[in-house]
Amino acid sequence: MSQKVSVLFVCLGNICRSPTAHGIFEKLVEQNDLQDQIEIDSAGTGDWHIGKSPDGRAQSYAQKRGYDLSHLRARQISPSDFADFDYILAMDEQNLADIQQMQPEGYSGHISLFLDFLEGGQEGQEGQEVPDPYYGGDQGFELVLDMVEQASSNLLDHIVARHLNADH
Ligand code: 4NP
Repeated sequence: MSQKVSVLFVCLGNICRSPTAHGIFEKLVEQNDLQDQIEIDSAGTGDWHIGKSPDGRAQSYAQKRGYDLSHLRARQISPSDFADFDYILAMDEQNLADIQQMQPEGYSGHISLFLDFLEGGQEGQEGQEVPDPYYGGDQGFELVLDMVEQASSNLLDHIVARHLNADH
């Protein structure tokens, strides 16, 4: 594990949901001046979009809320990610199953659905997915942004409370 707390967001293509989470969480971390203590990346379980920028719709809906995703490029999750990341957060159940299948024995980090952090991970809230917006309409991208903004805020609170100094 790195000294920083490290977070990897994972979806299928790494062009819609996980780059959206990457960009939103990155901005939140910067706003809280925690970029020296928290490292962020995103990846896809699939390999179709390696090297590509986020989907144009994901970029433009994120831009309207002040998030710039243009610097992100898709990559595929790799076995070395389990050595590098403390938190590996899946957008849906299939992503989670694919990650768990790759997980090496002895991995001591946290693997779960990202939305387990929605509502602070209260009992009964687990198991929610970020729906794949790729083949759907505009509302799908807005819904992704709504869910990711809320879960990001709770995730940051969790990491600060659990790993970082109490004065942040
Ligand atoms: P993402 O969305 O997993 O949120 O990046 C998708 C992007 C591409 C495809 C599926 C989902 N695709 O089938 O190419």
